[in-house]
Amino acid sequence: MRMSDELLTIDDMDVDGWRVLLRADLNVPLTLVPAGVPVGVADDTRIRAALPTIEELCRRGARLVLVSHLGRPDGPDPAWSMQPVANRLGRLTGAPVRLAPGVIGTEVRELTRCLQPGQTLMLENVRFEAGETRNDPRLAGALAELADVYVDDAFASAHQGHASTSGVAHLLPSAAGRLMAREVNALRAVVDDPARRLVAVLGGARLGEKNGVVRRFLELADVVCIGGGMCFPFLAALGHHVGQSLCSREDVGRARTALNAAAGSTDRLVLPDDLQLVRWGSGDGVVRDSLDGVDVPNGWMGLDIGARTAERYAEAVLTAATVFWNGPMGRFELPQFARGTRVVAQAVASTSATTVVGGGDTVEAVRQFGLEESVSHVSTGGQAMLEFLEGRELPGVEVLRRKARDRVQRADGPGPDPNGPAGHRTLTPGPSGRS
Ligand code: 3PG
Repeated sequence: MRMSDELLTIDDMDVDGWRVLLRADLNVPLTLVPAGVPVGVADDTRIRAALPTIEELCRRGARLVLVSHLGRPDGPDPAWSMQPVANRLGRLTGAPVRLAPGVIGTEVRELTRCLQPGQTLMLENVRFEAGETRNDPRLAGALAELADVYVDDAFASAHQGHASTSGVAHLLPSAAGRLMAREVNALRAVVDDPARRLVAVLGGARLGEKNGVVRRFLELADVVCIGGGMCFPFLAALGHHVGQSLCSREDVGRARTALNAAAGSTDRLVLPDDLQLVRWGSGDGVVRDSLDGVDVPNGWMGLDIGARTAERYAEAVLTAATVFWNGPMGRFELPQFARGTRVVAQAVASTSATTVVGGGDTVEAVRQFGLEESVSHVSTGGQAMLEFLEGRELPGVEVLRRKARDRVQRADGPGPDPNGPAGHRTLTPGPSGRS
């Protein structure tokens, strides 16, 4: 059995001729016409990330039933149809992808039965079904009727225990797709016995969302460099003036709690010692200044780490054997405040360490600087990645782990393995046969 973080993968699964329900995260941004009707896919990164699994399963003779959510529709809504996604996937694979008229039901089931090996049917947006986010067992059961085996490649949705990410996995022989396995392996390499030194660079504006990750890395990493809007609550908690910089009272409380929890290891926490400021309210005639120090005067706001801090963070990255980076160091979309993020990105791209980068803005920054190819792993997971690194159980991963454990116990136990002849460890569907 080839394990990936104790997960079974599609290497362990016989798919030839079987209907495979593949859960991918194809929740992509859409391009809208003025009437608000989606006409196309604005960024197909997530579709491309799912391609290795889709193409491999098709090559191996699977009859593929693809399911994903798109946006957060409140019931069926043509504005959130999967049609633009099906069109783009068809263009990328060079084979048309038919869109089912719904998610479940008799007609959809018939369409899955008519699928030929190597063909793909995409289901409509699974969030058109109210039971999806409630993990309704009836919806999970109806999804299970559409296939013989289940493959989960939706790492970016794995933090949610929904019918298509968790419920259905309990009902069918299940395995991880290539992307799911790659994400889990890459993130485990950061938190489970990482090669030392482990350096984390954490930024972005919302400390509330990243508090758990900051605290975990303060326990785990050798160095934690904090930048972006998130540094101001820490600076305020240490008694510095932050002027008009982003800094809510709640975040200062969070920073204080993190600092207290890290007492004894605060030498691992590295904060800026210089900043790039903007005059508050200077509008288009942006007034900038460099601050040697971190006490921001009233009427000014910090929008980037300073040049010296950027060099220190880059040096920390270059001393590491494992690097995790999440969150920009400043407002990098404004060229005059992009330096901190660019210097960190260049260090991450140039080191021979294992480098893992994640989070929408960070990935966007790495791409903007043309450095994506030089990073070991660019995660597709936002919240899912943060929760995994915090050490929280992700329902979509847990169910796959549990199924793998159950299977090992059955195969090692005295009775015959219900999924195959004794000693045969390839996952096959139940007794109903190919339908
Ligand atoms: C994401 O984009 O983070 C995932 O697809 C989950 O989407 P959601 O936040 O709408 O559940």
